Amino acid sequence: MPGRIAILDYGGQYVQNIRRAFLEMSIPAEILPPDSKLASVAECSGVVLSGGPYSVYETSAPTVDDLILTSGKPVLGICYGHQLIAHRMGGDVLPGKAGEYGFAEMEILRNAPLFEGIRSPQICWMSHGDQVARLPDGFAILASTKDCPCAAMAHEAKPIFGVQFHPEVSHTPQGWKILQNFASKVCGLAVESWDPGPYIQSAIARIAAEVGNGRAMVGVSGGVDSTVTAVLARRALGDRLVAVHIDHGFMRENESKQVIKDLRSLGLDPILVDASQHFMDSLAGVEDGSTKRKKVGELFVRTFEEVANRYGVTALIQGTIAPDAIESSRGMASRGSGAEHGGMIKLHHNVGGLPEQMWIRVVEPIRDLFKYQVRLLGKSLGIPAELLERQPFPGPGLCVRIGGAIAPETLRVLRRATSIVERSLSPYKPGQFLVYAIRRQGKAHEGAERIARDMLGASYRVSAVLHPNLGVGVKGDERVLGGIVSLRIEKDGRLSCDRVPWLDILRLQSAITGGLREVCRVLLALRERPRGRMAAVIRSVETRDFMTAMPSQIPFDRLLATADELLGLPSIGAVFYEITTKPSSTIELE
Ligand code: XMP
Repeated sequence: MPGRIAILDYGGQYVQNIRRAFLEMSIPAEILPPDSKLASVAECSGVVLSGGPYSVYETSAPTVDDLILTSGKPVLGICYGHQLIAHRMGGDVLPGKAGEYGFAEMEILRNAPLFEGIRSPQICWMSHGDQVARLPDGFAILASTKDCPCAAMAHEAKPIFGVQFHPEVSHTPQGWKILQNFASKVCGLAVESWDPGPYIQSAIARIAAEVGNGRAMVGVSGGVDSTVTAVLARRALGDRLVAVHIDHGFMRENESKQVIKDLRSLGLDPILVDASQHFMDSLAGVEDGSTKRKKVGELFVRTFEEVANRYGVTALIQGTIAPDAIESSRGMASRGSGAEHGGMIKLHHNVGGLPEQMWIRVVEPIRDLFKYQVRLLGKSLGIPAELLERQPFPGPGLCVRIGGAIAPETLRVLRRATSIVERSLSPYKPGQFLVYAIRRQGKAHEGAERIARDMLGASYRVSAVLHPNLGVGVKGDERVLGGIVSLRIEKDGRLSCDRVPWLDILRLQSAITGGLREVCRVLLALRERPRGRMAAVIRSVETRDFMTAMPSQIPFDRLLATADELLGLPSIGAVFYEITTKPSSTIELE
């Protein structure tokens, strides 16, 4: 179908990322086997050749139908795909002098549609040993890094491009823009043109059909997903809808009151259920994040069931969206090879956290949407911008931002700390920002210390601590429960992470989480004081879809001023800034 992009799957880890990036631009994209012939992509507007674990000279390495390359169709090769284009069109691919794994700085040398609107130099993320050593005839280099002269190339006359780096991962901050340029400027496709109108009509019809003649209830946390779902459900069901907000006691300061006010302004007339004591009692002593999520999921449903009994409703409408479902799924056999990937990362309380036995029927009208689409839907429904732009907040609330068992005192301090961090960082408009609490003390971690010392050189004194709490991480598309390491970087006798260049900080976390299987989070010590058993960790990320994320480059003097304020709270003895990308750690702690 024209308007569609074909992605030939050479077995790379990020094939689904490529597809998701296009879907996010409302461009249909399908993953096809690597040996697909021109005929199978003839109707597509462009073809992407993915990365893969091969070298083009291996006899068993998959190749590309040369007719695709000579057809005049737009082609973008990524990593192995880039090398494959060079190889098949007459260039040379050789092992590089040094492989590049992780962050690299790319100099853009030539204007090209692929790089329109992108400044030079740019951070890009590399993972390769081989590289293009000699370009095929008719090609020119578009960009270089220190170790890779041909980081990007283009044919002078045909719409064929190759990039050695991975634009589809969030570690390449402008990567989505490069893919967008390929779709719009090279393939001529319209991006970001998703029209919420027809979706609203079909969602309303779906809700009405699934609920039937009875009454239904919608659970509203106050977040954009559940608020949009509630407004759709109101349109579908009128006064057969009961809107319920459960205060589980893990909300932020004054949040439940504000949610009720907002829902009233949308004409929803919500019921507020204060279940905070019950949730707190049920979670007492629970240390493990997944167990907390499961328990919260179960408690939510049981509380909803009680309300349902009271109001005679038979269906529960939820604002589950695509990333919740993708991350809670146990794998998706969609690869051409049939290999499973996309394993379960985190039980989102509203998906995997639901109990198996429940009599109430669950209706999820926006399950196939991404966040930006939900926001467009909300705008179209007339929901005010300040509600649609609200910071995402996990359903289980602050309880998954406390490492280990939840002490009421820790919860109180974290709630205060959350207000401080939100006030202090909101002017920078990060994608998502939060603070979580872990135990301050830990034991020295020699491996991380060695990596940091090797990378930063002798002018810094570095020590690394492995904290006793575990955090959820994603490594190689798999969920891991990993260690949390904090680094104290000193120069001239004071904490000095602010003196390390940002690119080196990114490289450092990538080397630690990549080199040490047991570690999935890296923190930098900002401030500390002699006493206090708790550490507050500021986490701020840039993200488009919440499935991948980059730490935000907030000015260090702002982070330090925020840390000073946090140190004024009882029990906080240290303040850290998390510098891990997702992957390898998720955005939330647990
Ligand atoms: P993670 O931590 O998985 O978070 O990287 C991705 C996004 O989802 C939010 N999040 C949740 N939202 N229920 C929700 O409604 C949940 O259980 C949940 N857990 C994480 C998180 O804040 C981030 O925006």
